[in-house]
Amino acid sequence: MTRRRLGRGLGDLGATPFASPPLAKPELTLVQDYGGGGSGRRPVSICVTSGKGGTGKSVLPSNLAVHLAAAGLKVVAVDADMGLANLHLLLGMQPRRTVMEVIESGATLEEVAETGPLGLRLAAGASGRPDMADLHPARLSRLVAALDAEGDRAEVVLVDTGAGIGRSTTSFLYALGEIVVVTTPDLTAMTDGYAVIKNVAHNNPSARICVVVNRAKSAVEGLEVFGKIDRVSQRFLRRPLFYLGHVLNDARVGASVASRIPIILNQPAAPASACLRGVGRTLLIEIDRRRAAMDGPGIPPGGSPVVAPEGGPECA
Ligand SMILES: Nc1ncnc2c1ncn2[C@@H]1O[C@H](COP(=O)(O)OP(=O)(O)OP(=O)(O)O)[C@@H](O)[C@H]1O
Ligand SMILES: [Mg+2]
Repeated sequence: MTRRRLGRGLGDLGATPFASPPLAKPELTLVQDYGGGGSGRRPVSICVTSGKGGTGKSVLPSNLAVHLAAAGLKVVAVDADMGLANLHLLLGMQPRRTVMEVIESGATLEEVAETGPLGLRLAAGASGRPDMADLHPARLSRLVAALDAEGDRAEVVLVDTGAGIGRSTTSFLYALGEIVVVTTPDLTAMTDGYAVIKNVAHNNPSARICVVVNRAKSAVEGLEVFGKIDRVSQRFLRRPLFYLGHVLNDARVGASVASRIPIILNQPAAPASACLRGVGRTLLIEIDRRRAAMDGPGIPPGGSPVVAPEGGPECA
């Protein structure tokens, strides 16, 4: 009965022993100069999401935006957790404008975005507005279109969404080319994460679906969790997933959230910071691949898997 309710494949997550196929080592390439500032290129838009709430979705983009900005990319973070936005808190910002203006009065992202750490830009979300939590997709399409229009000013747009498959989240899940699903090793987070993956696989066939395992006890546990989800996805959806890496469970993450400074800035030596830099490095490779694919024949969206480069001793 549980199986029927969860859908094909979901029940396997709890039972499948880890036996993921050997992972190929990625070719490391340099991120190119993407020629922002009038080039007419589209930005790489990355949607960070999860099935279950509280998995660390917002911790990820707040730190990854800083990492990508530190690498020299023009980054815009967009808080699309409609009605319950908090990315600005994690970045220590007090924005005056929000993406509501994009949706309601046709403002551009550039107009509402404000500058944060390392020059990254944040288009903040609205909080405490129940009407924002269930916007009609037609209204959200303005915001989705505004992401692409950032091409002249941003090389990467990182979108933080709410959890689950409500229509305010699926507007982004179905439209963007890179979907990053954040899960923890908890069975419920994995199961709900797979439900999101299944949804994206059916409704956004050309998207690359990446996974980050947050709050892992070790690199091995991260790989085990990824392997389980990837096996189920390959078997039932015929979709390989792409592993961006793991982030260790680290009490210092909670402390950095409380201090409103991304952990890679205020505690760079923390184990979680090392992991976040590892995920950031892999994401840079992914961004480079996407740009190459946009520019020419390149690598198709479902091309060879991206796996985290060896984290080295700093991220065990
Ligand atoms: N790697 C980690 N180690 C320890 N604690 C963590 C880690 N990642 C996240 N947390 C804790 O989990 C809390 C929730 O994280 P976050 O706000 O990013 O989740 P979320 O998925 O965005 O939640 P929501 O679904 O409500 O948007 C953080 O405030 C932090 O205390
Ligand atoms: Mg969040």
